[in-house]
Amino acid sequence: MNYWAALSDRQRDVAQRPITALFDAESRAKAFSVTLETPATGPVLFDYSKTNLDTETRDLLLDLARSCDVEGRRDAMFAGEKINETEDRAVLHTALRNLEGSVAVDGVDVMPEVRATLARMETFARDLRDGRIRGVGGRITDVVNIGIGGSDLGPAMAARALATYADGPRCHYVSNVDGAHIHDTLEALNPETTLVIVASKTFTTIETMTNAQTAKAWMSRAVAEPTRQFVALSTALDKTSAFGIDPARVFGFADWVGGRYSMWGPIGLSLMIAIGPEDFRAFLAGAAAMDQHFRDAPLVDNMPVMLAMVGVWHRQICGYGARAVLPYDQRLARLPAYLQQLEMESNGKSVAMDGSALTTAAGPIVFGEPGTNGQHAFYQLIHQGTDVVPCEFLLAGQGQEPAMAHQHRLLAANCLAQAEALMRGRSLDEARALMKAKGLKGKELERQALHRVFPGNRPSTLLLYPRLTPAMLGAIVALYEHRVFVEGVVLGINSFDQWGVELGKELAVQLLPMIDGTASAEGRDGSTAALVATLRELGI
Ligand code: F6P
Repeated sequence: MNYWAALSDRQRDVAQRPITALFDAESRAKAFSVTLETPATGPVLFDYSKTNLDTETRDLLLDLARSCDVEGRRDAMFAGEKINETEDRAVLHTALRNLEGSVAVDGVDVMPEVRATLARMETFARDLRDGRIRGVGGRITDVVNIGIGGSDLGPAMAARALATYADGPRCHYVSNVDGAHIHDTLEALNPETTLVIVASKTFTTIETMTNAQTAKAWMSRAVAEPTRQFVALSTALDKTSAFGIDPARVFGFADWVGGRYSMWGPIGLSLMIAIGPEDFRAFLAGAAAMDQHFRDAPLVDNMPVMLAMVGVWHRQICGYGARAVLPYDQRLARLPAYLQQLEMESNGKSVAMDGSALTTAAGPIVFGEPGTNGQHAFYQLIHQGTDVVPCEFLLAGQGQEPAMAHQHRLLAANCLAQAEALMRGRSLDEARALMKAKGLKGKELERQALHRVFPGNRPSTLLLYPRLTPAMLGAIVALYEHRVFVEGVVLGINSFDQWGVELGKELAVQLLPMIDGTASAEGRDGSTAALVATLRELGI
């Protein structure tokens, strides 16, 4: 059976059906949600009842997942098979958080090395936090993580999310090659009591290596042997040595950890320093609990699978081009940025694993902001614009500021209100009644009413969790990782390479001498050549 065609037919059949009508069945809220309760996380609810999915559609979506062998590919990933075929690599970020047992790559059990590196990280983090590892000026007060993409977004997002758990040195994150970023960060710091972490899987990324050199020069003004206050997180141990970093201060990892999946291991060192090894272990345990659920639960009760298949329904079947991630949790402010890399670098592809052109749309555009801020920015388009944007809300049962529980209740009311408004909308008659109550009449009443109509029937999901703890954050991130994986399998693509970032990097290397004025821009396209000339006139 062609499930794609069957789902398209189904979509045509139900497109005009109001989601609200589906709630005539009393049990819908329960039947169209997934609950997961683990000791690490407590009860977590993924509610997708405010979508146009019904039992028949869900069955088709799950048949599609089965026909793509989601379960087989999942098991292959966890078993260390080389499912990243274009880079000939295993995909084993899950091994960084499932610390018991063994898993082999090329016939070698990788777990002893994983555990040994984690133990080294913990010793280092403890020594730093307790003041046994010091700078020339005494106790380390500040840590600067220099990295970009997966070597920045994960730990930066998590450090912010877990700010209430941070009781170690202050952690700062520098990523952009724009000198303003590192300037503004270092300006406030004392090099004598600062530790710099250079986080780069390849140790070649131009932004990171440029910022690392800048940091080294800054450090050398006050510290005779600057690299003694440097740490490297990388797979390229030859390059970290060439930079001058003591191998004892290098935390390596294997090529089967993808950049955007790497914060569970050495790339998470800054987070471990901030929150401490125990809370970092809890973070890993939360992710491991989600892994276990993903491996064990039947597809219909499987949170990552259902999150993914709702995504497939909206993007590939309904044709909605974007997806909004809306955490009603201020400390998850960087989650949308983190998910932009996770989702768009993983599933923003046009060819299937075998190189053939995709016959369906690839992954959606992902964007978002914490609620309630987004409400006062882009929700206008989500409610009344011409595009339907499925929304993924996230909300905690309890806020992180117990003294301000009333503010958390207001936050929660806003979150539920937005989802309800998206689904229900406001009809023209309701809008007319409102205008009438305001005293408007005739043509003006009609004109004003039309502006106040909300089409409604706009889908959203909610992830409702008890509280944003380290374990909960780990589970949330693992949930999204597996969602991306499932969507990738259903699309038939390789979610673990990122060839699309290469061309721009290559051209930047070619353009730099032209912008420097040491090479001619002749032969470039007319636009680029003219812009190089203008930049030179501007005195770049
Ligand atoms: O932007 C491409 C990319 O390769 C990402 O996938 C990666 O997370 C980032 O660059 C940083 O790479 P590295 O850790 O090697 O510096």
